[in-house]
Amino acid sequence: MKACRREAANKTPVWLMRQAGRYMAEYRKLRETHTLLEMCRQPDLASEVTMQPIRRFQMDAAIIFADILLPLEPLGLHLEFAKGEGPVIHNAISRPEDVNRLHDFDVKHELGFVLEAIRMTVQQLGATPLIGFAGAPFTVASYAIEGGHSRHFLKTKQFMYQYPDAWHLLMKKISDMTDRYLQAQTAVGASAVQMFDSWVGVLGPDDYRKFVLPYSQMVLSNQRVPVIHFSTGTSSYLDAICEAGGDVISVDWRIDLAVARKQIGARAIQGNLDPAHLLMPGEKLRAEVQAVLKAAGKDPGYIFNLGHGVFPETPPENVELLIKEVHSWKP
Ligand code: CP3
Repeated sequence: MKACRREAANKTPVWLMRQAGRYMAEYRKLRETHTLLEMCRQPDLASEVTMQPIRRFQMDAAIIFADILLPLEPLGLHLEFAKGEGPVIHNAISRPEDVNRLHDFDVKHELGFVLEAIRMTVQQLGATPLIGFAGAPFTVASYAIEGGHSRHFLKTKQFMYQYPDAWHLLMKKISDMTDRYLQAQTAVGASAVQMFDSWVGVLGPDDYRKFVLPYSQMVLSNQRVPVIHFSTGTSSYLDAICEAGGDVISVDWRIDLAVARKQIGARAIQGNLDPAHLLMPGEKLRAEVQAVLKAAGKDPGYIFNLGHGVFPETPPENVELLIKEVHSWKP
């Protein structure tokens, strides 16, 4: 929390995106008997999975176990996680009329299970802060339109260019919901929130400013706790990402952390180890972790993280080694 506010801390804080997940045997065991959506919708299970990495490693923050796609259901889009395929939305948005049909829903009611999981987890965590999260308007809209994962995001771009009014309405609806959802998460105890714009790097800077920035800005500027603005593939327009906002800017490995820090200026920064390095044995991993720490420099306001999520293939011992290495670092 100090790092979010750019205050000096006695060690470099570290947490990892997807720290709760398939690389852990404890998680895989629970997944044998429950689907991903069941685990998200049962607060005791979501809370248990959130705590798994906290019990095993010395992370400085927990992130609530949920998914950025959970709000699609109450919006009226039927979400399923198909085996081996990732998310599938059966009635994806394809025409402007589809946007009018999206429901305006009460987050406390429809996503109450996430809020309950946050309440339960905060009680167990003690002094460790809990991070709440939501998908960013663009990334959520892209799933609503593509109906699943995509390589080139052509349907999304086509919709955006062909039906700009419907696109803006869609972004307005999603961002209003996201704003309320994040505020509800802090109201029940999340100490900070992260907004995931995982795929917005498929856009160039002009499209980002025109079609995305105002909506991300609205969500980010309304939060009352520190907010982390995460994206990938956006290092060529970090100025626009910063303009959209965030107390902390999360960057990926496509930019040197020292260069990113200079560009970001008076904000905290999070990142940016390539999660592929976590597959490498001890000495190699250690050298890469040190290189990131060195690039981060001495100024306060730095949170060690990956540039994107932990891969399921990651050996848990390597996560442990990474955390120890970060905590023993003297800048
Ligand atoms: O520990 C944590 O990070 C908290 C839990 C978390 C999940 N999803 C659980 C999950 C978080 C923060 C997310 C965010 C999320 N979900 C994002 C943004 C971050 C990113 O990775 O870019 C996105 C794009 C999604 C959508 C999503 N969820 C996809 C595309 C998939 C399938 C791909 C995959 O990795 O399997 C998921 C499934 C998912 N969400 C898993 C987990 C642990 C794996 C599912 C499983 O157990 O089968």
